[in-house]
Amino acid sequence: MEFARLIFAGILISLLSNRVAAMAADLPPCKFKAIYNFGDSNSDTGAISAAIFPRQWPNGETFFRKPAGRVCDGRLIIDFIAERLGLPLLSSYLDSIGSNFRHGANFAAGGSTIVPQNKTIAESGLSPFALNVQIFQFDQFKARTSDLYKEKKKHSCRIQVLPRSKEFGDALYVVDIGQNDIAYGLRTVGDAQLLASIPDIITQLVLAVQNLHTQGARTFWIHNTGPIGCLPSTLLTITNPPPGFLDNHGCVKSQNDIAQEFNRQLKSRVVKLRTDLPHAAITYVDIYAAKYGLISSSKQHGFVEARKICCGYHKNGIDVGCGGILALPNGTQISGPSCEDPSTYISWDGVHYTEAANHWIASHLINGSFSDPPIPITHACYTTS
Ligand SMILES: *[C@@H]1O[C@H](CO)[C@@H](O)[C@H](O)[C@H]1NC(C)=O
Ligand SMILES: *[C@@H]1O[C@H](CO)[C@@H](O)[C@H](O)[C@H]1NC(C)=O
Ligand SMILES: *[C@@H]1O[C@H](CO)[C@@H](O)[C@H](O)[C@H]1NC(C)=O
Repeated sequence: MEFARLIFAGILISLLSNRVAAMAADLPPCKFKAIYNFGDSNSDTGAISAAIFPRQWPNGETFFRKPAGRVCDGRLIIDFIAERLGLPLLSSYLDSIGSNFRHGANFAAGGSTIVPQNKTIAESGLSPFALNVQIFQFDQFKARTSDLYKEKKKHSCRIQVLPRSKEFGDALYVVDIGQNDIAYGLRTVGDAQLLASIPDIITQLVLAVQNLHTQGARTFWIHNTGPIGCLPSTLLTITNPPPGFLDNHGCVKSQNDIAQEFNRQLKSRVVKLRTDLPHAAITYVDIYAAKYGLISSSKQHGFVEARKICCGYHKNGIDVGCGGILALPNGTQISGPSCEDPSTYISWDGVHYTEAANHWIASHLINGSFSDPPIPITHACYTTS
């Protein structure tokens, strides 16, 4: 009986996975010509660096060999997505130097929240480019580039860095934001009030998606929020945690519970959105599961302990952030300072992930294994057929 049941379960599982494979196989591959991305530092490819303060070495050391606007030693998840789709890495909308918007633009900015906080950067540590501002920027980008393209074409001028108006509809729209709303709530209002505000925060995200849809966007790839309670920057400040405060993998349980509640509500709103916007393909991507999966089995995947930080120095009461200058007792100054081999670390600076971790996460996301519906990104577009 048990045996028969096992065989039955086995058949069911293989039928289900065959069905997913068949679903993807039946779908034609997408022809994304552009990516438009909205988010925070997890996907900022140069906004804060261009608009406010340049990112310092050793950011960029692994891949770009120089600071490249990202808070990471190399590429971010959005970079690996662009590569997988055969598109160039995205220029930041706010970067006026050497940018190319032929295949999309990135509106993500480090420190951005979904809900605007109406406080200065100095007061809140948050960016002025909240999601609603990123949508205003997109509106302006779309209107002005379309206008400029027509104008330039009429006079046979250079147009190679401009997007084609007709390609906005077939573009991939990626959203990865919410971590700073949770982090800021944890710092300022506490767990209960933060939990109570989650429905309103998610409403703002849904409004942004609806706004883009009204403008013709059809394919959305929406990341949920990661396990904020596993960030080493937080874990560093915790000494002698009471029993039950940390989970089996050393993460702050209450913080991860809030992130997961955010994700539950986000997922149910995305499911509802599919009914409201039948002419769209909206994929919900479980970044939380991907990141937590990596963190909880770091050794198995060839990484050092997840709570170790590659860049920055935080020991014996000395705190030097990544890119800061550390003065050693003998008078030597080290900038950075970063670890010898970033490819073995998950955390770059305590908050952001290394290129190696981003690569691991992206390679798992891209084939749809963390998506609802479970379709690879190369096939996740809206089609009329
Ligand atoms: C910020 O200001 C806007 C416009 O006045 C308002 O709608 C919004 O609720 C404010 N946000 C917060 C968090 O107070
Ligand atoms: C100071 O200490 C560092 C680390 O121990 C060492 O690499 C460096 O050579 C020392 N500098 C001098 C001037 O002794
Ligand atoms: C997706 O890719 C990851 C990483 O390469 C792999 O471990 C996983 O089995 C793949 N999943 C599917 C459903 O293809």
